[in-house]
Amino acid sequence: MYEQLHAIQREFGYLPGEQLRLLAQRIQTPLSQIHATVSFYPHFRLAPPPRAEVRVCGDMTCHLRGGAEVKSSLQQAFAGVPPEEVLLGDVSCLGRCDKAPALSVNSRIYSRASGSSAVSMVRDLLGGGQLPAESYEQVRASVACDPYQGSPTYAVLRKLLDTRDFLGVIAMLKASGLRGMGGAGFPTGMKWEIVRNATGNAKYIVCNADESEPGTIKDRFIIQSVPWLVIEGMIIAGLVTGAKQGILYIRYEYEEPKATLEREIRRCYQEKLLGAKILDTELSFDLEIFVSPGGYICGEESALLEAIEGKRAEPRNKPPFPGTNGLWNQPTAINNVETFTLATAILARGVDWYKAQGKNGSLGVKFVGISGDVKNPGIFEVPMGTTYGELINECAGGIDGGRELLAFAPSGPSSGYLPASMTNLPLDWNAVTAAGSMVGSGAIVVCAEGRCMLDMALNAVRFYRNESCGKCVPCRVGSQKMVEMLTGWTEGRSGEADLGLLNALSSAMKLTSICGLGQVVPVPIASVLKHFPDIVNEHLQQKYCAAGVCFTGARR
Ligand SMILES: Cc1cc2nc3c(=O)[nH]c(=O)nc-3n(C[C@H](O)[C@H](O)[C@H](O)COP(=O)(O)O)c2cc1C
Ligand code: SF4
Ligand code: FES
Repeated sequence: MYEQLHAIQREFGYLPGEQLRLLAQRIQTPLSQIHATVSFYPHFRLAPPPRAEVRVCGDMTCHLRGGAEVKSSLQQAFAGVPPEEVLLGDVSCLGRCDKAPALSVNSRIYSRASGSSAVSMVRDLLGGGQLPAESYEQVRASVACDPYQGSPTYAVLRKLLDTRDFLGVIAMLKASGLRGMGGAGFPTGMKWEIVRNATGNAKYIVCNADESEPGTIKDRFIIQSVPWLVIEGMIIAGLVTGAKQGILYIRYEYEEPKATLEREIRRCYQEKLLGAKILDTELSFDLEIFVSPGGYICGEESALLEAIEGKRAEPRNKPPFPGTNGLWNQPTAINNVETFTLATAILARGVDWYKAQGKNGSLGVKFVGISGDVKNPGIFEVPMGTTYGELINECAGGIDGGRELLAFAPSGPSSGYLPASMTNLPLDWNAVTAAGSMVGSGAIVVCAEGRCMLDMALNAVRFYRNESCGKCVPCRVGSQKMVEMLTGWTEGRSGEADLGLLNALSSAMKLTSICGLGQVVPVPIASVLKHFPDIVNEHLQQKYCAAGVCFTGARR
């Protein structure tokens, strides 16, 4: 259905009602169902587009790097221009956090934007000019853990076809301690074993390349640099679990990585590494790319499956989990891009090699994205056990503008913020959990002194409010209530009972939200209350913001 919807939108610029009616007849699906799906996703439109649709990212990193200033320049320049001409709005993280701030103009994405460059680009467009090419280019980099060093031979797959030692693969992954790199850290060997042992008419392997949480930029880098490791990992997972079909679910804004994957998949089909009778054996595995129709919630594994099935991306109640009841209710192994990549590297180079990549007692290697107030934001392949101080100062070049570090989020909004005093903490699953945060997907966002941490908590909570799918009340209503309360705190409106109410709301959301999104909404403000209580007290009691960010009436 999505293919046909995209085709209609390409032809008409939007989805006209008559075309949807014709589609409903053609595919014999109730029109109401098509509408329910289409209206859920940000990349489908039901009305004709304006001449210039400009959306500015104001999430975590772009908030730190001047997204609000870009938006305000655009607002001033196009004040009074009718919305059919210029429609100005917000957009959630565009996956360009290392080159923030980012914005989209008629769905093209521009990074390192300034107010003046954005205004002149839109003026040119209105004057009949063309939009420039997108400004982000991901340079292919060599990756130390790549066993092929840029010349992939798919040696692990070839060997596995000879030995058929599928249980050995599971044993190796278990021995390596490899955990899921998408955020939850579930042991990968165990996940593949569950799917192998599950019964079903068919089984599926799904790669989650949706990465849409502010600060998360590593999967894009991995796909651009070593697409073969992702693909080989998926084929191996297919052979080990008995799945014959793989789906690579990629976020809408990743045109370039998608093209890279398409090229490599084509090559694999030509070389008989994919398809029926892989390398002339009786085994088969097909792989296709599915482009997300948009929304952060699509990264949640069960919502992602709903999206592939053509429905609204609303998370399922769990259990059952996808390992036994996944795509089309069949056993499904869903893993993150980095997880498949590291699985291939481990199988090629061995468990001992993988463990030895870590330092200070931690095992393995990880890709992290570092963005925010640092001199050299980017993606880095680092030993587990590296301290956050080393990551910020050595990898990302330290704080820019001659400032000191104030706080850092180990993994975007869902990890909350930790204070500068905790930079000795190592990148280690257990250590970070014990410190009350999480390694997560490794989306490190750095805040320099002069930032208001209450403002940063509000920014994170607002992201979740915007991205809540709305299926369950605690998250849909609770996230809005929390945004209202924190906005009040930053504008001088707070009540005596607010802290008690916040606690009650937070525990209700944690206990009763269906999925991880609703459960982490309270995390950013809880972390700021824990580590920066004075800042909150100043706002609540003295109506004072030392950073000069709040009480100005200028916040969005
Ligand atoms: C709201 C939400 C968004 C998520 N987004 C992603 C994502 O973009 N990429 C990802 O790999 N995992 C994401 N996850 C985690 C997935 O649900 C799932 O745990 C993961 O894809 C499993 O792969 P792994 O075991 O290799 O980590 C998200 C979870 C939640 C609750
Ligand atoms: S917790 Fe939020 S995002 Fe998750 S299902 Fe409920 S409403 Fe949707
Ligand atoms: S692109 Fe704006 S926060 Fe990621």
